[in-house]
Amino acid sequence: MGRKFFVGGNWKCNGTSEEIKILLSLLNAGQVPSGDVVEVVVSPPFLFLPSVRTTLRSDFHVAAQNCWVKKGGAFTGEISAEMLANLRIPWVIIGHSERRALFNESNEFVGDKIAYALSQGLKVIACVGESLEQRESGSTIEVVAAQTKAIADKISKWSDVVLAYEPVWAIGTGKVATPAQAQEVHLELRNWLQKNISAEVASTTRIIYGGSVNGGNCKELGAQPDVDGFLVGGASLKAEFLDIIKAAE
Ligand code: G3H
Repeated sequence: MGRKFFVGGNWKCNGTSEEIKILLSLLNAGQVPSGDVVEVVVSPPFLFLPSVRTTLRSDFHVAAQNCWVKKGGAFTGEISAEMLANLRIPWVIIGHSERRALFNESNEFVGDKIAYALSQGLKVIACVGESLEQRESGSTIEVVAAQTKAIADKISKWSDVVLAYEPVWAIGTGKVATPAQAQEVHLELRNWLQKNISAEVASTTRIIYGGSVNGGNCKELGAQPDVDGFLVGGASLKAEFLDIIKAAE
């Protein structure tokens, strides 16, 4: 069976309750391909997760943008994977480059977080990606392979993981990777999974692209054989997100 197209919308730290109400009306009224063709997951800030989960159309799902690395307890300001599971939040984004850079999350810490989230029954959008400096020095593949290895060292349940390749230089910059650049890295990641995990994990794991995806560039990116969908930031806060979902067709 082919890999189902996956479109995630990462709302990041954006939105008032009024703005989210408008966005939800827009999403709920949108005509998009059926759930057999595309899996859609939106990721609001923690505070809005329960209300978005109940108001959002039933064919779309929700994700948290982060969670704590282990069981909850005396960790002020954190949200545990158990809490997300308790509130029936099915997905969580882990290892986003903004968290790696701003909160010093190392490859190992990201691997531990993913393993713990999976152990609590959550599904994970696991992010990897190189900086501009790393790309320019020719170490893109080495960097994403090391990030993927740190995850692979800690997990076995790949069926609950979507791997998001997000080149840092393309995030929020309007400077999207070309379809060929995205395809090259996605294929390398798939080959890495084949060589280091299994042929089955390589052929079934969805590898999605993130970084300045919009209504204009999504079709060509999504047509690449190893691009199985997107993780969308800025454009997921606009009506354009519906056009991006339609790239699944
Ligand atoms: O999680 C999403 C990515 O950071 C992409 O963000 O679409 O605003 O570039 P962007």
